[in-house]
Amino acid sequence: MEAPLLRVEGLQTHFASELGTIKAVDGVTFDVPRGGVLGMVGESGSGKSVTGLSILRLLGSRNATIAGGRILFKGEDLLQKSEAEMRQIRGGSISMVFQNAMTSLDPFFRIGDQLAEVIKLHQGLRGKAARDRALHALELVRIPDPVAKLKSYPHQLSGGQRQRVVIALALACEPDLLIADEPTTALDATVQKQIIDLLLDINRELGTAIVMITHDMGVVAHMCQTVAVMYAGRIVEHGAVEDVLRSPEHPYTRGLMASVPRLHTEASAAGRTRQRLYQIGGSAPLPLRLTDGCAFAPRCPEVGPECWTVDPPTVGFRDGQEAVCHRRAEETVEEDLRVRA
Ligand SMILES: Nc1ncnc2c1ncn2[C@@H]1O[C@H](COP(=O)(O)OP(=O)(O)OP(=O)(O)O)[C@@H](O)[C@H]1O
Ligand SMILES: [Mg+2]
Repeated sequence: MEAPLLRVEGLQTHFASELGTIKAVDGVTFDVPRGGVLGMVGESGSGKSVTGLSILRLLGSRNATIAGGRILFKGEDLLQKSEAEMRQIRGGSISMVFQNAMTSLDPFFRIGDQLAEVIKLHQGLRGKAARDRALHALELVRIPDPVAKLKSYPHQLSGGQRQRVVIALALACEPDLLIADEPTTALDATVQKQIIDLLLDINRELGTAIVMITHDMGVVAHMCQTVAVMYAGRIVEHGAVEDVLRSPEHPYTRGLMASVPRLHTEASAAGRTRQRLYQIGGSAPLPLRLTDGCAFAPRCPEVGPECWTVDPPTVGFRDGQEAVCHRRAEETVEEDLRVRA
């Protein structure tokens, strides 16, 4: 089997805080094949952005450390690279569209100059060659009237166009991997759909692999082949999208699926209809992890005594789908005994 483009193995990213060590990413492992699209879902604070930022070693804050694991990109561990090597990789072979990236466009520079800067840094192109490349990047993201847009300032563009420019900046050097952190959150529904479709086209046309960080299971269903569900710094379930969406195994994934904002219409006694939005009770914990046991236990509808004290095991299902859960482990043992009896 061909080695994956990216393999994150046992990644640990910690923040020192007054309360103790926050294990924002606590032993995360996943693969992205060449040209593949992986979805990362989970509630706010589950560690999605920190995972993405760790891959590029862009944690910034002084209290952050990557305390363990490996990040193998084309077989080479990015955690062993020098800062100079990482600067070449960032925006070169791996790019990231940051959460709230639209605000990261420099308001004082023309779009064309911002693109040319990235192209100069990574490809050493200048002058007309850099401008041609910049134009090509804008064409790639299907901005209307790209020649004129090279001369525009960010405030002259609509929100959707600005997000296309952000994606153009990330794609300017034709990376092998794009990490897209909630690239559609600030946009209205129609524009969201256009941006998602754009990313899919780019994946298909250029073979750019994508890690798609999102809250939205609909986006996962539409564009990803595999999905990793994060909870409190760990991946609690992963597998092929069609398997996980059709039969989610972890109680948290089941809750997430049920809380997809779908309007359940129920006929009431009066014959009227009312709308209902399912939600998971409780809130996501701060990943301090002071004790062993399952972090989801306080909110889990299936919680048992061992869930509070013993770390849950990883249970395998069809085609590599895995869930980290005591309940599913029990059921698998019972199933085995039934088969053997
Ligand atoms: N600089 C920091 N110092 C301390 N804790 C931090 C820091 N940055 C992030 N964290 C913590 O790490 C955890 C994971 O944060 P992260 O931003 O990855 O969540 P997320 O899944 O991307 O959430 P969202 O969906 O809101 O973007 C959170 O508990 C957060 O409070
Ligand atoms: Mg985030």
